[in-house]
This record gives sequence, C-alpha cells and structure tokens, in this order.
Amino acid sequence: MQTVDSTKVPYKTLYNGAKIPVIGLGTFGSDNYDAETIAQAVKTAIKMGYRHIDCASVYGNEKEIGVALQEVFAEGIVKREDLWITSKVWNDKHKEVVASCKQSLADLRLNYLDLYLVHWPFPNYHAPGCAGDARNPDSVPYNHENYMKTWTQMESLVEAGLVKNIGTSNVTIAKMKLILRDCKIKPVLNEMEIHPHFQQPELYKFMKDNGVEVIGYSPIGSPGRPERDKTPEDTVDMEDPIIVAIANRLGVHPAVVCLKWAVQRGQITIPFSVKTDKMFNNLKGITEGPLTEEEMVAVSKIDKNCRLIKGQVFLWEGAKSWEDLWDLDGIIVK
Ligand SMILES: NC(=O)c1ccc[n+]([C@@H]2O[C@H](COP(=O)([O-])OP(=O)(O)OC[C@H]3O[C@@H](n4cnc5c(N)ncnc54)[C@H](OP(=O)(O)O)[C@@H]3O)[C@@H](O)[C@H]2O)c1
Repeated sequence: MQTVDSTKVPYKTLYNGAKIPVIGLGTFGSDNYDAETIAQAVKTAIKMGYRHIDCASVYGNEKEIGVALQEVFAEGIVKREDLWITSKVWNDKHKEVVASCKQSLADLRLNYLDLYLVHWPFPNYHAPGCAGDARNPDSVPYNHENYMKTWTQMESLVEAGLVKNIGTSNVTIAKMKLILRDCKIKPVLNEMEIHPHFQQPELYKFMKDNGVEVIGYSPIGSPGRPERDKTPEDTVDMEDPIIVAIANRLGVHPAVVCLKWAVQRGQITIPFSVKTDKMFNNLKGITEGPLTEEEMVAVSKIDKNCRLIKGQVFLWEGAKSWEDLWDLDGIIVK
C-alpha cells in the first residue's frame, strides 16, 4: 500500500495550543457502507498516514472503529498520542452528555478523546435512515438556556480529563455569539459544511475572527449523502468547470482540488472514503502541488450558496422550512 509521511501533513494550532492535523478521515457512511467496512477504512487510513479520524456516536460504527484502533495500537503502527480522535454527542443525549461521552470512549476503546462536539444545536432526534419529510413531534427550536446546560456538561468533560478539547457543530453566527458570551471554556472550533459551492464566507470569518478554528465537512460535496438530503437544485462541486480545469492542470481528481482549496483557504478538512486509492489521493493531495493565487481567487468566485446537508429532519412543528435552522437573517428562528 502507498503511504504518506504523516509528518508532512500540516496541522492547525488551536487557541489553547492543541495541534490538529488539517486532514482527517470522515466516518459517516452508514447509508452506503456497513460499520465493518468503515472500521477497516480507518485502519487502512492510519497505516497510510492519516492521524485524524472524525467519528460520532450516531454514525453507528464506533464499536467497530474501536476494534480497528486497538489493532493499530497492538501492531505498533501508532501510539494513542499520535492520533487525533473526534466524537460527537447526538441530539437525543443533550441532557446526558457525560454518559454519552463515556459510551463513545468505551466503544472506541479509548480513555480520552481529542475533541468532543455537540453534533447539532437542537435536541431533535430522528430515526437513522428516516425519510426527508419525517418529523419528530418532540422537536423544538434552539433554546439557548438548554444549549448552555449541555455546554456546561461538555466543560465538565474537559475538567475530568475525559476530553482534551470541546467544540460546536452546525451553529450559526447568532448562536455562536451567545455561546461565546456565556461559556466558561470557549469552543476550540466549529464543524460546519464547506465545499467550493458552499463556502459560508461570513460564518467562516466570524469563527476565525473569534479565535475559533473551522472544520469543513462534506468537503467534496458529499456525493454519497443520504437521499433525504438531495434536492433537484443541488449543484455538483466536482463538475464545476473551474474545479475541473485546476484538476486537469495538476493531473488530479476534482475531489482532490476541493481538498487542496479547503486546506489552502484555512479550514481543516475531513473527506470520507473507504476506497484505498481515494483515501491515498486525498492525503497525498494536501501535501503537494498547491493552487495558484489566481486559482484560489477563481474558486472563491464559484460559491453558489448551495447547502447540501439542510437538516430538514430536525425541524419542529410550526417551522416553515429547513432555512429556519440556519438563522439566515442573523436572528435565531424560534
Ligand atoms: N458535523 C456534522 O454534522 C457532519 C455532517 C456531515 C458530515 N460530517 C463528517 O464529514 C465527513 C465527510 O463528509 P461527507 O461524507 O458528507 O462527504 P464528502 O467527504 O464530501 O464526500 C464523500 C464522498 O466522496 C467520494 N470521494 C472521496 N474522495 C474521493 C476522490 N479522491 N475521488 C473521487 N471521489 C471521492 C467518496 O466516494 P466513495 O464512496 O467511493 O468512497 C464519498 O462518496 C463525514 O464522513 C463525517 O465524518 C459531519
């Protein structure tokens, strides 16, 4: 198997001094691949040179990934401290964050996480694999007081040494302003959707200006996302003529251009694949052959504000559409 020298992979230094590799392997693939296949991909990725894995309890594969991690440790491929492992508390566990984290630690067979995220700012649960129009009657809009109760539990995990860093995911500027105002431990980063056709420039800048780093998810445009997250208006990053032209110049797949752009722009990127060749191209791609300044400018101009992971299954009764989740007017929608 081809490998990449992991010391050649750049990292970002978070406000507290922690260093996170700028590329991690995504592990959300449950609609297309079984847990065992994804766990094997994690093992292959670590052997290949990946040092950062983006997990979550809701992905339904932490137990299998835990076995893979045990194996790479036992085989002497890496030590625990060489890896950056993220997990996330799912929406139905906002009141039981400590128990949920301990479950992820047990499943992953670890005694600490490098990063724990609140997966969504809503406690709204939907069944895995549900249809796009499925609604849970218990769903509610964002409630800041309740979010901070969840965040206080997140802070207690850092204090207990179970987690080294805590962060948010899928929050807006309006929500982050309140979280920054009221937190004791500031989020180290926010995980949010970013790809060339959905660059979120304002939210990105707000995070950076406030010392909060950014992980961009679905960096390739999530071609394998669940059917419930697909609409006829969605555009395809990998088919964009600007992306294709850069790929032709560099002799790489358009997917790799999306990742190079991501890292060069300044976000951490977490592409998913279980295919050894794709995983390799992605890792190698961010260690060589940068985009030119002109290409970076050209990509900045192809933003189509095309959100792919709309989150409509988290809507509450009375909400008008998925836009209500994202506070488009800068005001939290209730
Ligand atoms: N915090 C959140 O709410 C949240 C939400 C969504 C995702 N995430 C995280 O972000 C990760 C990545 O996002 P994602 O899985 O939605 O989408 P993605 O990484 O944008 O796209 C993954 C797809 O791209 C294909 N691909 C990967 N590398 C390729 C290459 N070099 N050439 C051609 N095709 C390539 C894969 O193909 P194959 O199937 O053939 O391997 C896979 O179908 C997730 O796995 C998850 O860890 C977090």
